[in-house]
Amino acid sequence: MKLAPFSKPVVKAIKAFPTHPYVLEENSYLQLVHHFLLRSNSFLEIGYQKGLVLEVCKAMNFPRSMHIDITNEKLKATPSENNRCKTIDSLTYLQQCFVEKTKFDFIFQDGAKTEDVRYKEYELIFEGNILSRKGVLLVDDYHYRDCRKALRRASKRYPIRSWVMKVVGRKRTYKMVVVKYEK
Ligand SMILES: C[S@@+](CC[C@H](N)C(=O)[O-])C[C@H]1O[C@@H](n2cnc3c(N)ncnc32)[C@H](O)[C@@H]1O
Repeated sequence: MKLAPFSKPVVKAIKAFPTHPYVLEENSYLQLVHHFLLRSNSFLEIGYQKGLVLEVCKAMNFPRSMHIDITNEKLKATPSENNRCKTIDSLTYLQQCFVEKTKFDFIFQDGAKTEDVRYKEYELIFEGNILSRKGVLLVDDYHYRDCRKALRRASKRYPIRSWVMKVVGRKRTYKMVVVKYEK
């Protein structure tokens, strides 16, 4: 899959952010995230850490994004009205989305790395209809055993289709997974 290049404002925002320059390289994880952002109108990032993806959303004038993390200790980004940030754990937030019927057409799963939390995230996302129809769930950390196990368990229970994508990391390539829920 040929990924869309970053626009000039996005490159400027990334260069101004305290991050490693490898993220600007072709086929980096950030280019894959950006590729799906270009095709979406609402976005949830689970695990914002410093907030690089939030800054990318702002530079793209992305219409509605929510970025959550259990801690804001490392946050370096500044949220805006359309691109928000919340310090909350993923399961509490997804439960709120279910109650309030909030949906996203792109979800980036990059928070907890434990099988238990990851699997519960899938339960809430799929059973709570938090991913819009035809939406995309992008799963990071597929090189972690627990993350692989959680996704495999979810694949047995839910009607999902997935594609493994190789992305360029700081030191080596690694795998991310694109997931579609085909209810
Ligand atoms: C790899 S970092 C995220 C990097 C970020 N997505 C980026 O692209 O720059 C993982 C983050 O997930 C957060 N996290 C871990 N468990 C979480 C949970 N249960 N709910 C929300 N965030 C969580 C951690 O605090 C950490 O900041």
